[in-house]
Amino acid sequence: MCGIVGYIGERKAQDVLLKGLSRLEYRGYDSAGVAILHGHKMDLVKKRGKLKVLAEELNSGPIPGAIGIGHTRWATHGAPSDVNAHPHLDCKRRIAVVHNGIIENYLELKNTLIKEGHKFISETDTEVIPHLIEKFYKGNIEEAVRKALKLLKGTYAIAVLHKDEPDKIIGARCDSPLIVGVGKGENFLASDVPAILDYTKDVIYLENHELAVLTKAGVVVKEHSGRRVAKKVARVKWDISQAEKSGYRHFMLKEIFEQGDILEAIQTERLRDGRIRFQELAIRDNIFKRVKRIAIVACGTAYHAGLTAKYMLEELAKIPCWVDTSSEFRYRDPIVDKETLVIIVSQSGETADSLAALREAKKRGATVLSICNVVGSSIARESDGVIYIHAGPEIAVASTKAYTAQLAIFYLLTLHLAKLKNTIKTARYNMLIREFRRVPNLVKELLSEYKPDYNPLAAYAQEFKRYYNEKHNKSFFLYLARNINYPNALEGALKLKEISYISAEGYPAGEMKHGPIALIDENPWVVCIAIASKTYDKMISNIQEIKARNGIIIAVATEGDKEILHHNINYLIEIPKVEELFSPLLVVIPLQLLAYYVAREFGYDIDQPRNLAKSVTVE
Ligand code: G6P
Repeated sequence: MCGIVGYIGERKAQDVLLKGLSRLEYRGYDSAGVAILHGHKMDLVKKRGKLKVLAEELNSGPIPGAIGIGHTRWATHGAPSDVNAHPHLDCKRRIAVVHNGIIENYLELKNTLIKEGHKFISETDTEVIPHLIEKFYKGNIEEAVRKALKLLKGTYAIAVLHKDEPDKIIGARCDSPLIVGVGKGENFLASDVPAILDYTKDVIYLENHELAVLTKAGVVVKEHSGRRVAKKVARVKWDISQAEKSGYRHFMLKEIFEQGDILEAIQTERLRDGRIRFQELAIRDNIFKRVKRIAIVACGTAYHAGLTAKYMLEELAKIPCWVDTSSEFRYRDPIVDKETLVIIVSQSGETADSLAALREAKKRGATVLSICNVVGSSIARESDGVIYIHAGPEIAVASTKAYTAQLAIFYLLTLHLAKLKNTIKTARYNMLIREFRRVPNLVKELLSEYKPDYNPLAAYAQEFKRYYNEKHNKSFFLYLARNINYPNALEGALKLKEISYISAEGYPAGEMKHGPIALIDENPWVVCIAIASKTYDKMISNIQEIKARNGIIIAVATEGDKEILHHNINYLIEIPKVEELFSPLLVVIPLQLLAYYVAREFGYDIDQPRNLAKSVTVE
């Protein structure tokens, strides 16, 4: 949610900032801007629209200077416009600020500042920050920033420039991510690692209430109070090529096609001789043994991974488990105590609601385990233990590879807990491990049927568009499934609505008769997940009920299932035969691809769907 970049060094700041912002555009893309210092002159350029609008403007009249800050915005306060775009300035246009987060007491601060004579031009909460810094500025920008921070309530990561101190950038954070990239004779600030990976892999992760002063020569980190803090420089393990499209048309497609390799890498890392290893996990087995109940808390796609995990944890580890969306968990009165294991699932590790839920769980005495992708993220740092999914950077806003990687970790965790608690027989454990080991290859085999540039799902998507137009845009999607694939029905629907803006609903198929059946006529396309399973016959009955009412059916079935062909389905998607427990890892792949191809057919911006952002750092 909003991306920040800062640069100080010898390169052309404009180029570094634009490149960095392009790597952060997944965080927000409704407007972008930069402020660049050249001697004591400050240039400000900001534009409504995607980053390319700003880039065109800058490339048509490049601005000199080797120190600057930049921002890509996801609007919270104030509509996307040139004026509301960041950076924001003080009255005398000497101080520039970019901000990610929300200043909750901005109205109060703004009213006081207006009374004191400050002039505001935007509708944003951010604009109070440069004016506050201006109020406190007595020739030392660092001191003025520190005084301003004391008055701010809410969340922020900021980068600040002052044109009379053109040898430094100040960065500070509270509950929004900010990292420092450490170079030779140059330094960087950014919301996330990809923004700086073209230049350096050495990173300092700033903690809450820390402030960094960047000069060309070095970086000094202090607490907001001014006390210096010694920080470790970490080395990022992954490469910038992982954050590039590598020949794919969209990041989403690339990330879908990476899933077989990621599942394989997870097994190589975590499974040795039938033993499951979570090397980085700081929670000891005796704590797991004492766990009486599990609460899984997450948002969006990560929440669907949690819903799937409930089926496996209860079946194999026999631990009662419930799943909450983070925003609901934190505002009710959840029964969470010392015997509860709370598992927070988050790709980014920065989702504000999930972070707040984590803190609530800790306050109530629970042990908190997180499952994250981004190393060193806030959720990873604040939990009692973290298991990383190591899926590499996920850039497309619609999450795909993080989902299957989260599921893979949940399978391993479940088997680990089942063994610890003695709720699984050795023979079954060994059989499941053997079957799980087959999954990466099955995923690769499945993906090989969907060549990036031609595949049957692309043809179904074409058909859907034709049908949609013929039905005067009244068509929509329903996804039905049962048991452990029910969360995949939710996930399939979420993928479709996120990127194609077509109404889509996921439902447990057994609930169809309690509502959704009223929607069935010739308009909806109903995706029925009817793989070989203990609920197969029930799914077939649902299919017949839909056909009886003229619904169009896409059936997801197991390869070799001849029976399904007798039910007059309209389209068929086959997945390889696999133990039902692991089938969600395969079933979700064509659902991701279907959503992708529908969005592509309609010509939408797949990696950056409207109104969404990848990392939601506001509540
Ligand atoms: C946003 C993204 C989703 C993601 C959700 C949770 O809504 O668009 O793709 O699933 O946040 O994000 P997290 O980083 O916590 O997994």
